[in-house]
Amino acid sequence: MTSLEEATATPVVLGGVRGGPTVPTLRQDRWWIQQVVTLTVLTAFVAYASWAAFVNKSYYVGAALHRDLISPFYSPCLTESCVPGSHPGTIITWWTISPALLILIFPLGFRMTCYYYRKAYYRSFWLAPPACAVSDAHGSYSGETRFPLLLQNIHRYFFYAGLIFNVILTIDAFVAFRQPGNGIGFSVGTAVLLLNALLLWAYSLSCHACRHLCGGGVKQFSRSPIRHRIWKALTPLNARHMLFAWMSLLFVAFTDFYVRLVASGTIHDYGFHF
Ligand code: FES
Repeated sequence: MTSLEEATATPVVLGGVRGGPTVPTLRQDRWWIQQVVTLTVLTAFVAYASWAAFVNKSYYVGAALHRDLISPFYSPCLTESCVPGSHPGTIITWWTISPALLILIFPLGFRMTCYYYRKAYYRSFWLAPPACAVSDAHGSYSGETRFPLLLQNIHRYFFYAGLIFNVILTIDAFVAFRQPGNGIGFSVGTAVLLLNALLLWAYSLSCHACRHLCGGGVKQFSRSPIRHRIWKALTPLNARHMLFAWMSLLFVAFTDFYVRLVASGTIHDYGFHF
């Protein structure tokens, strides 16, 4: 260090004791607000989604109400116990509890292993670390090199499964134009299912694994012009992945909630038909 630097330097003690009873930091801003919001919203979502998956009713609006709307939590409805009209044909006979529990593992696995959500819940739930320049609440750090966090590496496979669900939910959105007894029409429910599918596609296509799948491992983009073009198209989406993660998470819950309100007769699904 030069004499000038020595004369002007401010002594700074960085960080604090890893794994201490508090989380020492020199930060003066309210860095914890983001973690509290994340913790609250994710906890609320998990609580609602668990209830909706176990309750096993009011997930489908059928011909009696001149609609064909299914909750995304229950689609595809593959078991014998699915309410009439909600499934493409009975496939599984041995599953007797809620059909949502059969498919939940895929969207749940996709979200749980998402790179963005990992950052969010490592910070807000595990305080590891709670934020940039805030001391880690745990005494040691092994990253994602050991079980169970090693399993986070299967994210790309959940991404593939997520694509299948996106196709199914997109089909559901188009099927929602069908109004049994009335013909073809459009309702608030149709719009909700369409927007839900759109946001889920935005979330999937902005995924880091998707971007890597399209443009990763290419040594010379000039030799792979198509992959380069796809990669360039996906990159702006990728930059907004956090936004799409939250929007699609909240809207998928809202879609289930809306279908539930209509199916239970609490509200009417306003719309028109041709
Ligand atoms: S990184 Fe978030 S879904 Fe893949």
